[in-house]
Amino acid sequence: MPDASSAATNGRASADASSADGESFPLDRPVPTTLDDIRVPVEDDLDAFRSYFREAMRSDHMLLDKVTQYVLWQKGKRIRPILVLLSAQACGGAATDQTHRAAALVELLHTATLVHDDVVDDAEERRGVFSINALWKNKIAVLLGDFLLSRGLLLSLDHDDYSVLHTLSDAVRRMSEGELLQIEKSRLLDIDEETYFRIISDKTASLISACTKSGAVSVTDDEALIERMDEFGETLGLAFQIRDDLFDFSAEDAGKPIGIDLQEKKMTLPLIVALREAGRREKKRILAIVDQDEKDRDDLRTIADFVDEYGGIEHARRKMESLAADARSLLSALPPSEARASLAGLTEFAIQRSR
Ligand code: IPE
Ligand code: IPE
Ligand code: MG
Ligand code: MG
Repeated sequence: MPDASSAATNGRASADASSADGESFPLDRPVPTTLDDIRVPVEDDLDAFRSYFREAMRSDHMLLDKVTQYVLWQKGKRIRPILVLLSAQACGGAATDQTHRAAALVELLHTATLVHDDVVDDAEERRGVFSINALWKNKIAVLLGDFLLSRGLLLSLDHDDYSVLHTLSDAVRRMSEGELLQIEKSRLLDIDEETYFRIISDKTASLISACTKSGAVSVTDDEALIERMDEFGETLGLAFQIRDDLFDFSAEDAGKPIGIDLQEKKMTLPLIVALREAGRREKKRILAIVDQDEKDRDDLRTIADFVDEYGGIEHARRKMESLAADARSLLSALPPSEARASLAGLTEFAIQRSR
């Protein structure tokens, strides 16, 4: 498992690498950057994924069925299953049925963690619509998350997909640990950059690297290649979460509440960096606002302006871009293919996306 802090340092070392992409990654074909185009090589595999995913969501229990129908109706980006399928194709040619089940398993686990995350974060909006906890209350959301998790585990167990199950269970463990460390840090407001990277590595990059790794595992025994894909997912995952954290400071609608991280005293990279750059008095003033249990629009604006003024947004953006460039150069170990070009496109999409 690559270490998040070293990925972060590499990122810093090559802060301008994004403009020199062509050197580290041979552009043998155009790199797609919209999800519609990125998906093209795995369109048929996605049909197989969808049927496993829908079947696992099904329940004879009336209330549960109503809630899972609502989840299926939502527009998730399906980035994780796409990553599993593309990784398999880029590593070995054709995705197998095991690959399709791995794709369904990751999306089930991802959905379960989002449903739980909205309870933990007290978030009323998800994917542009009401969250499960907002519509059906916390109790239902907690139980739905458990249902989805167990359905994912059963899907793998029923087909003896032990190695995929092992990789993904470990990711779920790390996600819970990451979320817990984040809660611990938001109580103390004493988070540094290294801890931030540990948190996002555990809560987000763990699952994304499990996607790229399990895609590879489902088609090849080449340990070096599997390790490469793991590292690719880890690096991509860090960039992906920094983009997510930048949403919290922007004015655009990303389909989830803005300012909620600050509201929850969650200190993310832009704020951590700005606080490090500011003088003692300024730092104290901002931390006092962050520490308020209730913050109004003016408070949130004050913090956001401070973060921008002290270069927090700019720094986070640069780090995100260099991580994406690092991820992309890791792909040079793979033979050229349409799937590899799509994976390169995903490194771009991860940092350019608007939702
Ligand atoms: C959201 O993930 C949670 C994070 C790790 C930032 P996505 O942005 O992939 O969520 P959906 O599935 O597309 O809604
Ligand atoms: C993402 O965490 C959820 C997990 C990785 C478990 P966040 O709380 O930062 O993500 P959003 O912004 O709600 O999607
Ligand atoms: Mg959260
Ligand atoms: Mg959240």
